[in-house]
Amino acid sequence: MRAVAEARTNIALVKYWGKRDARLNLPAVGSLSLTLDGLTTRTEVRFDAALAADELALNGAPADAAATARVSKFLDLVRARAGRAERARVVSANDFPTAAGLASSASAFAALALAATRAAGLELAARELSILARRGSGSAARSVFGGFAQMHKGTRADGEDSFAEPIESDLDVRMVVAVTTDAAKATLSTDGMRHTMETSPYYAAWVALSDGDLADARRAIAAGDLEALGAVTERSALAMHASALAARPAVVYFSGATVDGYRAVQAMRKAGVPAWFTCDAGPHVKALTDAAHAPEVARRLAEVPGVLRTRIAAPGAPAKVLE
Ligand code: DP6
Repeated sequence: MRAVAEARTNIALVKYWGKRDARLNLPAVGSLSLTLDGLTTRTEVRFDAALAADELALNGAPADAAATARVSKFLDLVRARAGRAERARVVSANDFPTAAGLASSASAFAALALAATRAAGLELAARELSILARRGSGSAARSVFGGFAQMHKGTRADGEDSFAEPIESDLDVRMVVAVTTDAAKATLSTDGMRHTMETSPYYAAWVALSDGDLADARRAIAAGDLEALGAVTERSALAMHASALAARPAVVYFSGATVDGYRAVQAMRKAGVPAWFTCDAGPHVKALTDAAHAPEVARRLAEVPGVLRTRIAAPGAPAKVLE
């Protein structure tokens, strides 16, 4: 009735933005990501017949009602699957500072899916776990796996073909993460992508680009071609943000530091340093590079006005059960 699991966050190189089914959380596009080391969520789940309601503690403090409700809804899926009724106490913590602006639903729901299913007596195959984690958060389906992973949008109405799979690779990549604020994001990705879908005249164009970007990224990884992978990484992020910028009213995740970070990455590339920009539903700058250049990329991004700190992340391991 108790299990502990951990999962790492991931950064999409080919982005997910928009849903084809909100209830089952089916993505409108496939995506391709890199799971990162050192950004880990550890989650303990204990089902207990004595509990009247699900309880959630996050980073040592009781969670707010919205976070508790989202976790409780997810636990309902696990309970239904396991044929159990007990409520659970969930204790979850990140090994990175909470205020780092990197708190991620990807590591959170991947760790929760694994811990909750084990605590409920279920042993799901990785694909099944990915499908379940997707219900919590689309990006979490990818954090079930280590290294590169591709999320398939699928075509089935029941979502059983919408899961992530790992991609083998010899590329020795790094992701440099430049934190630009300690504030929580202003527009959550779930809300930002819904609004983009509903109002952006560029949303259809964004969706139309996705399959080609995925194919190019797959080809680049298979060929060990970091330059080609970097090019698709940067253009996918910028096209995603372009669709959000064209929403009415606009969804703007960039801050001044984001734009300056983008320019710094461009300047590095001009000077022969392999680095490619990406950015998610917040102002932080992320740069894809290789192991040899990561310290230099981190040093240069640290000099950008508004960058608070940087960290270099290597590819991380799959989600795993600890206890
Ligand atoms: C910009 O996975 O957070 O990071 O499925 O609604 O929980 P929900 O969305 P979420 O969206 C991630 C958006 C992104 C791009 C990506 O990770 O692919």
